[in-house]
Amino acid sequence: MSAISRCATWVGLCAVLLGARDTNAQIVYVTTPKDVVTRMLELGDLTPGEVLYDLGSGDGRIPIEAARRYGVRAIGVEREPELIRVSRARARDAGLEELVTFREANLFDVDFESADVVTLYLLPTINQRLVPKLSKLATGSRIVSHQYMIPGMTADLGVRFVSEEDAATHMLYLYTTPLVSTDPPAGAEPPKRD
Ligand SMILES: C[S@@+](CC[C@H](N)C(=O)[O-])C[C@H]1O[C@@H](n2cnc3c(N)ncnc32)[C@H](O)[C@@H]1O
Repeated sequence: MSAISRCATWVGLCAVLLGARDTNAQIVYVTTPKDVVTRMLELGDLTPGEVLYDLGSGDGRIPIEAARRYGVRAIGVEREPELIRVSRARARDAGLEELVTFREANLFDVDFESADVVTLYLLPTINQRLVPKLSKLATGSRIVSHQYMIPGMTADLGVRFVSEEDAATHMLYLYTTPLVSTDPPAGAEPPKRD
């Protein structure tokens, strides 16, 4: 990438961030530090042939890293056109266009039933609204959420991770489908785990 296009990229990203603030958008664009991405992907336990979806994919770092490290097909869904442009350019620069796709869409309109791993860095309210769709994932699919839990659902694991990049503590939550409610109806049998 040339110095000019790098500069244009950052100007574009700043515009997205400021735009999000101006319109009081619910979710602003904040990236997951690279070492946290690595840990999230480890938790996702991807194997060759699997498919990852990142819902609200920002600059595309999670799908790109999933494809680079694990050779899996990865799809990023993002509503901001500038971020889609940046993501596609990054995938192209990494030579991963065959494996990585970015869809400019509202994540609630996207069918991601084929996902083996779904990554999230959204707000709890959005995670909760996604439950009906997340519940349609095949048994054994993994959901890895950065920072926020899925309200009402029991996580298999909550991991505290201190990033060397920003020196902050990041919470990562792993869920395996079928999702288990924190408050099952009286008398209900919890789903069996292997
Ligand atoms: C906190 S950022 C996370 C970006 C990336 N997943 C990461 O971890 O680095 C959340 C992203 O979700 C996007 N987003 C929020 N609501 C969305 C929606 N309804 N449909 C698609 N993208 C959305 C935002 O534009 C933003 O880029």
